[in-house]
Amino acid sequence: MALYSEKVMEHFLNPQNVGVIEDADGVGEVGNAKCGDIMKMYLKIDNEVISDVKFETFGCASAIASSSMATEMIKGKPVAEAMLLTNKAVAEALDGLPPHKMHCSVLAEEAIQSALEDYEKKKNKSE
Ligand code: FES
Repeated sequence: MALYSEKVMEHFLNPQNVGVIEDADGVGEVGNAKCGDIMKMYLKIDNEVISDVKFETFGCASAIASSSMATEMIKGKPVAEAMLLTNKAVAEALDGLPPHKMHCSVLAEEAIQSALEDYEKKKNKSE
């Protein structure tokens, strides 16, 4: 069996939503101390719905594929729904990741959580 599923290869070679949102409503950056990979998420939120999302990932193929898939999964979704996205759901949507690469999908979950927390903080400040 190939190490990576076709979906992982597809999202690694042609990642969706790569980039920066200059006036993002929420930004989150997380890293994994062991492998040194870093993921940054930018969210644009209108009326509690994620209208746009972009990411920058300095990391391995699984981290890039996970970011791409995770952003596709939360785009157009309500904030409350995006908060529930788990790394397991991201890995499943990619048709699985090798066990030693599961931590790469955890980065995607954490980056989104961190961007959503940033959004909530900013929102509370401006209220
Ligand atoms: Fe660390 Fe993939 S090896 S994020």
